[in-house]
Amino acid sequence: MPARPPRALAWAAVAALFLLMTLGNIVSATGSGLACPDWPLCHGRLIPPLRPDVLVEYGHRLAAAITSILLVTTILLTMRRRRSPGVRRIGGGLLVLLGVQIGLGGVTVLLRLPHLISTAHLVNALLILAGLLVLQRPAGIPGPAAVPDKVRRLAVAGLLVLLAQLALGGYVRHTGAGLACPDFPLCSGDLLPRGWLAVAHWVHRWLGMTLLPFFIHLALAARRTPLARSGWTVAALGGLQVALGILAVVLQLPPAVRAAHAAVGYALWGTLVWLSLGTGAWSLAFAPARAGRQPLLEAAGAARVS
Ligand code: HEM
Repeated sequence: MPARPPRALAWAAVAALFLLMTLGNIVSATGSGLACPDWPLCHGRLIPPLRPDVLVEYGHRLAAAITSILLVTTILLTMRRRRSPGVRRIGGGLLVLLGVQIGLGGVTVLLRLPHLISTAHLVNALLILAGLLVLQRPAGIPGPAAVPDKVRRLAVAGLLVLLAQLALGGYVRHTGAGLACPDFPLCSGDLLPRGWLAVAHWVHRWLGMTLLPFFIHLALAARRTPLARSGWTVAALGGLQVALGILAVVLQLPPAVRAAHAAVGYALWGTLVWLSLGTGAWSLAFAPARAGRQPLLEAAGAARVS
C-alpha cells in the first residue's frame, strides 16, 4: 500500500475547504445567513425553495457536506497509510475539529447567527485548514537545518498574530462593523475610534497595517533559504490583503471586494502555515509521544534531529 494518500485527493480537500470558507463570506456578505431558518433541512425540505438567497445558503451547506466527505477520506487514508503517532495525533485532532465545525455551523443557524459563535466557526475552519496542510507535510521539506532559527521564530509569531487578526476580521464582519470606521485613514473623522464596534474595526485595520512590514521582514530573513519563495508570497499576499481592506472601506463594502479580502486572508494563512512547516516549527507535532514529557525545548531539539 503506498505510504501517502493520493496527493490530488489531499489538495482537492484543501481547495474545497478554501472555497467553502470563501462561500461562507459570500453567504453573510449577501445577507443569506438565515435564508434557511432551520437546520439541517431548509424550510423543512431537502430540496429548498429556489430563491437566490436560499440557494446561496443551501450551496454553502452542500459545499460543506462535500468538503467534509473529502476531509474525512483524506484524514482516514493518511492515518491508515502513515502509522506514525504524530500523524495519528493530528488526524484524530482534525476529526474532532471537523465534528466541532459541523456543530458550530448548526448552532450558528439555530441561535440566529450569534457573533462569537460565527467567529469561532471561522477560526475553527482556519485551524482545520492548518491541520490539513500539516498532515500533508511532504517528505523532503527543507526542515530546520536549512533554515535559521530567526525565520522559525518569526513564522511562529506571525502565525499567532495572524490568527488573532483573522479572528478579529471575522468578528468585524459578523458584527457588521465593516463600516464602523466609514472613512480611511481616520475613523469618522477622528484619529481614535468611539464605541466598541469602531474600536474592533480600528484595531483590525492597524494590526493589519502592522503585519505588512512584519511579513516583509520575514521574507527578507528567509531570502537566502529554501523558503525564499514562500516568504515573498506571504509578503505579497500581505500587501494585497491590506490594499483590499482599505478598498473595502473606501468603496463602502462591495460584496466582491469583501469576498476577495476574505479569500486572500485565508490564502495568507495557508501560505504562512506552509512556510512554518518548512522551518521545522511543527516537528514536535510529529515527535513520538514520550518526547512530549521532556522539556519542550529539549523535545523540539530531539524531534529536529529525527
Ligand atoms: C494582514 C492584514 C489583514 C488580514 C489578514 C485581514 C483579514 C480579514 C478577515 C479574515 C476578515 C473577515 C473576512 C471573512 O471571513 O469574511 C476581514 C474583514 C474585514 N477587514 Fe481585514 N484583514 C487585514 C487588513 C485589513 C485592513 C488594513 C483593513 C482596512 C483598512 C481591513 C478591513 C476589513 C473590513 C472592513 C472587514 C469587514 C468586511 C466585511 O464586513 O465583510 N482589513 N479581514
